[in-house]
Order: sequence, then C-alpha cells, then structure tokens
Amino acid sequence: MTIDESRLDSIIDEYNAEQGSLISILQDVQAEYKYLPKVALEYVAKQLDIPRVQVFGVATFFKAFSLKPKGRQQIHVCMGTACHVRGSKKVLEEFERKLGIEAGGTTKDGEYTLETVNCVGACALGPVVVNNEEYHGQMTPIKVESLLKKA
Ligand code: FES
Repeated sequence: MTIDESRLDSIIDEYNAEQGSLISILQDVQAEYKYLPKVALEYVAKQLDIPRVQVFGVATFFKAFSLKPKGRQQIHVCMGTACHVRGSKKVLEEFERKLGIEAGGTTKDGEYTLETVNCVGACALGPVVVNNEEYHGQMTPIKVESLLKKA
C-alpha cells in the first residue's frame, strides 16, 4: 500500500510533531484510512523519532485502533448483559450467517466489518446494534436483513 506522505505530514504538523501526541496522531491517521496501515505507522515513528516497536505497541494496545482494514459499514452487536438476555447472540449469529463472516471479520468486498461490543449505554433498547454511528434498538434476527439493505 502507498500512503500520501504529505497528508501524514499535515496531521503530524498539527501536533507540532510532539512525541506526546502520538495517540492523537494515530487517531487522526486512522480517521483518514479507517485503519492504521503498517507503512503509515512506520512513517509516523520516523517523523516523531520514536522507536517503531513503541508506535506499534500503542497501536496494538488500544482496542480503538485497528491494524486491519475495516469495512465501509461497521456493525457492532452489543453483547452486554442486558442485550445478551434479550437475545443478542441470535442477532449476532444472523449477521454472521448473512455476511458469511464471524465476529471480528470483514467481508471480502470490504463493505462490512462485524464486531461485538460490551454495552453501548442504551440497555433499555436492547438488543442494540450500532451501524457506524446509528443505533438500532430491539433488534431481532428478522430485522437483520432490512438493516443490511438500508446500510
Ligand atoms: S448491554 Fe447492550 S446497551 Fe447495555
């Protein structure tokens, strides 16, 4: 993969190339690419004069960062207790069946990433699915297909 170094430079410059801003810089890089490409991490390490192993350590430590490309549609099925007791496992299984991937995976066409989360703070609406930033409450396996059609 090739990266636009000038775009990375402008992100790094926004933080005055401060080593202490590494997390913020990585957040912006991820917002740009939807994940953290290895070459981008190497470039950031070089420009900030931080050992590569340290940059990769930060990128792998925080769950919010991903080193794998994510789909255009990011579907998060809540598996927290309130959603679980209301059947979120069956909802998850239906997404897995319809998309042909397991939780944590991305479809081959790069369209969908399916993930699980633990409570998104909307327990009264459970089971809850969040598609990108959009919340869908009282999900059932039957509603999965229509959600995917709308996505
Ligand atoms: S447990 Fe699912 S929103 Fe809280």
